[in-house]
Amino acid sequence: MCGIFGYIGKGKNVPQLVLAGLKSLEYRGYDSWGIASLDKQGRIRIKKKTGKIGENNVETLPDNGMALGHTRWATHGGVTVANAHPHLDCSGKITVIHNGIIENYLELKKPLIKKGHIFRSETDTEVAVHLIEDILADHKKNSVKTVKEDFAESVRLAFKKMSGLNAIIVMEAGSQVFVAAKNGSPLTIGRGTVQNEENLLASDAHAILPFTRDLYFMEDDEVVTVGRKEITVRKLADGTKKQIKFQQVNWQIREEVKGKFTHFMLKEIYDQIKVLQSVASADKVELSKLAALIAKSYGTYMIGCGTAAYACLAGTYIFSKIAKKHVNFSIASEFGYLLDFLTKQSLVIGLSQSGETIDLLDSLKKAKEKGATIVALVNVLGSSLYRLSDHKLLLQAGSEKAVVSTKAFTAKLAYLMMLAYILAGKAELGKNYLLKAVQAVEAILKSDFQQKIINLAQKLASRQHIYLIGRGISYPIALESALKIKEASYIHAEGFAGGELKHGVIALIEKNTPCIGFLPNDESYNDTLSGLMEMKSRGGMIIGVSFRHHEIFDEYLPVSDCGIASAIPNAVAGQLLGYYLTVQKGVDPDKPRNLAKSVTVK
Ligand code: F6R
Repeated sequence: MCGIFGYIGKGKNVPQLVLAGLKSLEYRGYDSWGIASLDKQGRIRIKKKTGKIGENNVETLPDNGMALGHTRWATHGGVTVANAHPHLDCSGKITVIHNGIIENYLELKKPLIKKGHIFRSETDTEVAVHLIEDILADHKKNSVKTVKEDFAESVRLAFKKMSGLNAIIVMEAGSQVFVAAKNGSPLTIGRGTVQNEENLLASDAHAILPFTRDLYFMEDDEVVTVGRKEITVRKLADGTKKQIKFQQVNWQIREEVKGKFTHFMLKEIYDQIKVLQSVASADKVELSKLAALIAKSYGTYMIGCGTAAYACLAGTYIFSKIAKKHVNFSIASEFGYLLDFLTKQSLVIGLSQSGETIDLLDSLKKAKEKGATIVALVNVLGSSLYRLSDHKLLLQAGSEKAVVSTKAFTAKLAYLMMLAYILAGKAELGKNYLLKAVQAVEAILKSDFQQKIINLAQKLASRQHIYLIGRGISYPIALESALKIKEASYIHAEGFAGGELKHGVIALIEKNTPCIGFLPNDESYNDTLSGLMEMKSRGGMIIGVSFRHHEIFDEYLPVSDCGIASAIPNAVAGQLLGYYLTVQKGVDPDKPRNLAKSVTVK
């Protein structure tokens, strides 16, 4: 997580410009933020604050054409100003921003403390800046090199000592360059115009695009020196120079606005109509190529995290039902411990909205090493996942601004359904079901249905626990709906496979415990109904999400039947309930506590 951004050049009001860059990276973490800039005397000045950037400005910081900034998602040390980045060394002449976890920070810290370094934060990051300070001081003693070269070499040597997946940008008061290094965490260099003598560094290319489209995506184990007129990449291992190629990207990035909606989450729930329509009419040639790849693979695995993992799990039911094809599912963070059996014939499909989730990328890299073919179903063009994969399918859901994922989930389901129908030679049928799902979503978004959900949310907002059940494809929908409820409203919600109730879970049901059941018109209906009856017999308050009413429902949310595609409107009903519960609780669903949109640490 964490967003890092550095600018050097002739741009006007550089600290403010870095702040704007940080705002575009805030989805990576919003616990606290900070910016360091150089003053006319070449001294480092820092402003740090806890909380979101909001309407803050950095007018008090000096502007001398060079600044770096950080937006934090805490890993080591609480959310305090002291723990916010940038961090300074003892002399106040070196400052660092960091994304990742320095796994051996304690080991590195002890000898530094012995040597007299004073630590002012509880972070792992601060170790980096003292280590650089220490190595640089040693280096300078017998150096025949320039200050800049000594600085770059010290960063390289320090970074080599750090274990874990990390990216850092470092500024040294006398050097007029940034030195950055990366291993695992993403870092992109932007080459600005010659007239502006400007260059940039950021953890996400999108933050650089307002300045330049001339980009270099740093590879692991590289160190770069970035000045006004120079960009020099070196190998981390031995410091030798590397020839690199910049690429000109022509991505069109649409700036999303909330418009008439109170929150991005609600807007993105509505966006699903258009997204699903566009999947229904997606280019079948591209999809057929991917379907053929799945058909010929000897073992297909779908992996993702959180919401994306639930889409993968839904995919196993989709491929089994529609294409009679077995695909395996794993949570991406577990797949790394499960992949010993992969061969060159294996196909691993990574599902991700951001394309930056480190647990996913790490497992995919391991799968790649074993010779497996990698496919991405990803929303963000140019993301790490996009670049790492052998084949890619862009979800084209448009940018998701709310931290709580909605439209990327249903886009994944829709594409998986289309792929399975194409594999079964029934593309038109797939399209028809998807269009039915669009109609069902439209019905859910009408005011009378929303009023029902609002009323329900008012009743449930004060509850401690909500349980959700489903069987077959409705099982991942129960899991996903529970996640929407808990991550945004902070109410404890758990999804279960309906059949598992009597194996333990039913012990949790008391008088008036809210129990939500997903009952589409498929072979799971009667069994899920039995589960709900068992919950009702223990006092549960039964909420049915179904194509038809049943007398045991205390509350009923009607969702029209659209075959296996009913999973899509059912998921949308779960999203809306999560959204209105959040509003009831007064939480901002676009930025719930403790979360980040892009999970780039393990
Ligand atoms: C939940 C949510 C997360 C993400 C997960 C994976 O609403 O957003 O569970 O789905 O962190 O993220 P991506 O899809 O970007 O890999």
